[in-house]
Amino acid sequence: MKWLALLAAAAVVALGGAQGDSDGEGELWAVLVAGSNSWFNYRHQADVCHAYQILHAHGVPDDHIIVMMSDDIAHNKMNPTPGVVINRPDGPNVYEGVPKDYTGDDVTPENFLKVLSGDAAGLQGVGSGKVLKSGPNDRVFINLVDHGAPGIFGFPRTFLMVKNFTNAIVQMHRQKRYKEMLIYLESCESGSMFLNLPDDIKMYALSAANATQSSYACYMDQKLGTFLGDVFSIKWMEDTDREDVTKETLKKQFEIVHKETTTSDVLQWGELSLDKHTVSTFVGSGSADLGDYGPFPTESDPCLKSAVPSPDVPLAILEDHVAQSDGLLGADFWKRQLAELQQNRTFVTDTMRKIAQLVTGDEDLADMMMSDVHAIADDACHEESVLAFHYLCFNLGTNPYALRVVQTMVNLCEHGYSAREFTGAARAVCTHPSRQRNQLSLLIPFLRLFRS
Ligand SMILES: *[C@@H]1O[C@H](CO)[C@@H](O)[C@H](O)[C@H]1NC(C)=O
Ligand SMILES: *[C@@H]1O[C@H](CO)[C@@H](O)[C@H](O)[C@H]1NC(C)=O
Ligand SMILES: *[C@@H]1O[C@H](CO)[C@@H](O)[C@H](O)[C@H]1NC(C)=O
Repeated sequence: MKWLALLAAAAVVALGGAQGDSDGEGELWAVLVAGSNSWFNYRHQADVCHAYQILHAHGVPDDHIIVMMSDDIAHNKMNPTPGVVINRPDGPNVYEGVPKDYTGDDVTPENFLKVLSGDAAGLQGVGSGKVLKSGPNDRVFINLVDHGAPGIFGFPRTFLMVKNFTNAIVQMHRQKRYKEMLIYLESCESGSMFLNLPDDIKMYALSAANATQSSYACYMDQKLGTFLGDVFSIKWMEDTDREDVTKETLKKQFEIVHKETTTSDVLQWGELSLDKHTVSTFVGSGSADLGDYGPFPTESDPCLKSAVPSPDVPLAILEDHVAQSDGLLGADFWKRQLAELQQNRTFVTDTMRKIAQLVTGDEDLADMMMSDVHAIADDACHEESVLAFHYLCFNLGTNPYALRVVQTMVNLCEHGYSAREFTGAARAVCTHPSRQRNQLSLLIPFLRLFRS
């Protein structure tokens, strides 16, 4: 009866082709980016490693998956199990086999844009040099995970502006470098990265949050002293692990993830009709033996139970250290660290308030600039102000808390103050030493001292 099975298999293939879902002609490509570094941000790289495992398990070959991540977690001095990265409590090692295409200093927005544009010459001698070589029949999946702000997606020492991102995707469409594209983006205010993308370029996306909302971290692991995942990423990936991806549509996945992510508004963007495709259209339809990555029960939802807004992660981690060291030698140290972190945050907010005060020349107006939630209309003003703040005041890549005041720059621009006025005020106010710009990494040696 072997021939019957063969015949059935052939029929399935033919059917798949007719539906255009797993048609033989095109190939799948993927770009996975974790835009942060350091132990505090463990979760971003864990998410991206898990995404790799999904693609790998469903048969997407490594030469079609491009991974950008700092790669400072698996062998971090804080890691009690070197070489192991997990994405849920007591979970399997998601680090196994992850390609190291662009790591460390090579994780930059410039290199990311070169990967998208297929600029192999521009990446010669950089990392693995791999770029997207997709063509008009191919499908591309892009997964980005990091800190963000209105119009900004973070990278370890700098950031990607929404305009560059939008242009890169539009350009790929124009050059017929994909048939269809799926983007899953996790960051605070991730919705703001899609506001200007056309909805007729065969691109469909989900953002973890709307344009003015935080995304949330989850799975605080006390043994590791950090969060293991982010809510939206965990939800779409654990759903993918549970479902038959050749049957579940993107629409159904959106509905499930939207419902389960109670912490922020997961939103759809772009060409919504693409959501009729199955998830396998973009993650591969190879019948996966998921092994250790397989289904994780939903009953108790430990992710949501431990969820905190992404910007509050360092506070939550330090609070946990304080609680765990109660009555012990290190307790005072952690309390001081926590107080200092709060002071540092207040310093960022106060600095921005002073700038707003100087620009507007009015206390009430300054307050309004600090609390309004305008959308970005003046891209040029936003871009110029953000760059001025980044270089003159706080590095937005290394000091994620500074991303929390980007909204004020948007508000100033939308109220008609120019980037020039903003820059002048920033220059006058930001006279503090530049080491303020990299606060958390300075803490790492102390963390080690007290944990070992
Ligand atoms: C973003 O685009 C601007 C021009 O609008 C360009 O000057 C800048 O280098 C680009 N940034 C990156 C990271 O490519
Ligand atoms: C985004 O979410 C916030 C609440 O978290 C809400 O106040 C705001 O209205 C939402 N924005 C949009 C455009 O839906
Ligand atoms: C606060 O900022 C100071 C000055 O930049 C830095 O040395 C310190 O490590 C920061 N503390 C915390 C807890 O982030």
